[in-house]
Amino acid sequence: MYGHPLPPVYGQPPPILLIIAATTVLLVYILLIPKIPDYKIEDLSVKKFNVGPDKTIETNFILAIRAENPNTKISLNYGNNNEVTLSYEDTVIGKGNIPAFTHGQENVTMINVWLSGKTQLGSNQVESFHKNEQQGKIPLQYEAMVPISVNIFRFHLKKFTIKVTGDVTVDSINPDKKPKILSTTYEFNIHKFFSL
Ligand SMILES: *[C@@H]1O[C@H](CO)[C@@H](O)[C@H](O)[C@H]1NC(C)=O
Repeated sequence: MYGHPLPPVYGQPPPILLIIAATTVLLVYILLIPKIPDYKIEDLSVKKFNVGPDKTIETNFILAIRAENPNTKISLNYGNNNEVTLSYEDTVIGKGNIPAFTHGQENVTMINVWLSGKTQLGSNQVESFHKNEQQGKIPLQYEAMVPISVNIFRFHLKKFTIKVTGDVTVDSINPDKKPKILSTTYEFNIHKFFSL
């Protein structure tokens, strides 16, 4: 017994549909997948840095962050409810906020964050701080948690919280001397992600 040969396949989509599908995928890719913005610590000013006899430190810093939005179609709204901290050996020594603003497409801007703190250091921390000071190499850590919503054209499409962390090593922390930034590192994470 011989089976009948299979009928030829007519089900192929016409090329125009393939082109539309491919174009749509490409557009969605271009429009909806944001490029990761870039943040860099550019400057640290020390306005106040008092170490009391009981190891309580009182601080005032201005941290200057260079923020770049590389997206051509996407602007970013930075929400009010954000927090930036500067720490020494896991102890927060300064805390502040970024003023809410809209970061335009392909925009580079400097964000100045005022940080202040009053905290007590442990004896070990004071000791290692003095050691770091003598070596002219004080490692600090920064962390920024910022709620962001993404705008594409006029639509607020997505909301999430970004977490930017890293180290910033300075040669000194002293209100009478401008610190020199010796090195910085940078790590970007999407902390919470949800669609509107
Ligand atoms: C970038 O954005 C900032 C903050 O919104 C704004 O002040 C600045 O003028 C913008 N720069 C350019 C080149 O558009």
